[in-house]
Amino acid sequence: MGQPHFIVFANEKGGTGKSTTAVHTAIALAASGHRVGALDLDQRQRTMARYLENRDATMRRLDKQLAYARYEVLEDQSELGLKAAVERLSAECDVIVIDTPGRDDPIARAAILKADTLVTPMNDSFVDLDLIGQVHPENFKVTKPSFYAELIWNSRTQRAKATGRSVDWVVLRNRLQHIDSHNLRRVGAALDELARRVGVRVIPGLGERVIYRELFPKGLTLLDLAELGEVGMGHITARQELREMIAGLAIPGQAEIDAPKAAAAG
Ligand SMILES: Nc1ncnc2c1ncn2[C@@H]1O[C@H](COP(=O)(O)OP(=O)(O)O)[C@@H](O)[C@H]1O
Ligand SMILES: [Mg+2]
Repeated sequence: MGQPHFIVFANEKGGTGKSTTAVHTAIALAASGHRVGALDLDQRQRTMARYLENRDATMRRLDKQLAYARYEVLEDQSELGLKAAVERLSAECDVIVIDTPGRDDPIARAAILKADTLVTPMNDSFVDLDLIGQVHPENFKVTKPSFYAELIWNSRTQRAKATGRSVDWVVLRNRLQHIDSHNLRRVGAALDELARRVGVRVIPGLGERVIYRELFPKGLTLLDLAELGEVGMGHITARQELREMIAGLAIPGQAEIDAPKAAAAG
């Protein structure tokens, strides 16, 4: 068996959607047939693990098997603890999704070094962008990459030296507004410029929708429409956004899985 593919969700800022997008990614990949492990490094908030616990409870209540990710919270917050947890999950899984806390943390840095795909979700705001790059106050042009971009850059170089493996760094624009706005376009333009300068890909994430705040108690995702009860157009559009987000992550093997489905959907 080969090495699993590691997807790490990291942003030192809290509330950018790491846990929400991590859970959706884990379940979407499980739904398309991957054996997925979910490791929650945020031992205080435990959002990803709590979400998946709620999902377990829903499966028991409905007596129904839904797409499933094996999960654990990193209780032993040491490099050895991380290594052990990764070994446990690697034995059973071909994709491992790691959620990290929204602060600088040595274990999060160690996890970033493991990433094959590093996902940094951010809201469309210059406040969130500031972590990655600074912009000129009048023309909004990028003046320089910020410390977080440097941290990732260094971590990338370190990983390439140690393992010869590269990392695909992806900035995921979460909570996208449906209405076009100056802000959206300006942040978008600054991000595109940064992308070129620091070697990051920018992909669209989930739209700003109340549903993402409501799914948590049942541990459901937008791929579980059958379990959601009333389904409206908004849900269908949101599910499409989710599928595009997963396609944008470009996890190896996923395109082949999606292609027959897309052909069948016609
Ligand atoms: N696309 C979205 N639309 C609406 N609310 C969202 C969306 N993504 C995340 N949220 C909400 O934003 C808050 C922070 O999200 P969370 O995933 O916990 O971020 P983080 O893990 O980065 O701290 C939560 O209340 C979550 O429900
Ligand atoms: Mg979180």
